[in-house]
Amino acid sequence: MIIAANLKTNLTREKTAKYIKEVESFLSKNSISQEVIVFPAISSLNLHVGKVTVGAQNAYPAINGAFTGETGYEQLEEFGIKTILIGHSERRHVIGETQGMLVKKFNFYKELGFKIIYCVGEPLAVREAGHDKMMEYISNQYEGIDASYEKLIIAYEPVWAIGTGLTPTLEDIVAIHKELKEKSSAPLLYGGSVKVTNAKEVLALDGVDGILVGSAALYAEHFCTMCEYAQKLDK
Ligand code: PGA
Repeated sequence: MIIAANLKTNLTREKTAKYIKEVESFLSKNSISQEVIVFPAISSLNLHVGKVTVGAQNAYPAINGAFTGETGYEQLEEFGIKTILIGHSERRHVIGETQGMLVKKFNFYKELGFKIIYCVGEPLAVREAGHDKMMEYISNQYEGIDASYEKLIIAYEPVWAIGTGLTPTLEDIVAIHKELKEKSSAPLLYGGSVKVTNAKEVLALDGVDGILVGSAALYAEHFCTMCEYAQKLDK
């Protein structure tokens, strides 16, 4: 299974190094063979060799150049980063990234052979508009994306469940994952208020190949426990 931590705009470079060290040593001590990915803030990236894969939360679709405030491939390459998160709801809804920009990023990093975790998910008003509207909204997020890319991982993250403590019912997660699996055979993660108290049951669901965790992953200990749950299930 795939267990990913999105640290967002949290932790300093020093704290991130400590965090990764702690997770790394837990994975070794407990012989965890699951795929574990950590997305630190860009300024905390560092070369890392071990069981943990370190990925970028975002990057600009350029090798380098005049893109003030952005990070290009050259800056990721320096730290051996070959995994990237694209389409996270905070990029779409807080930063205002359009589907067009996400497609550019997707294609650029696909061309470079990156592993891409591509996020999809609906805001509350869309969910409340009913099943068909919701699926239409999510389908549009697949537009321009090569759903058969061999290094693609998809994360279904309902916007209203991110950082809110709210989650869809387990039945809802199974039903949506079933539909999304028809769009792509890529591994499909669930994200949105996953924590130690619900991770085990979410991971056990049909069609769930892993989890993408934000707030609860900020505690290395909690994140490690979730990795352990995945190891025990070993689907
Ligand atoms: P959350 O965030 O776990 O804090 O809800 C998940 C995410 O943003 O990927």
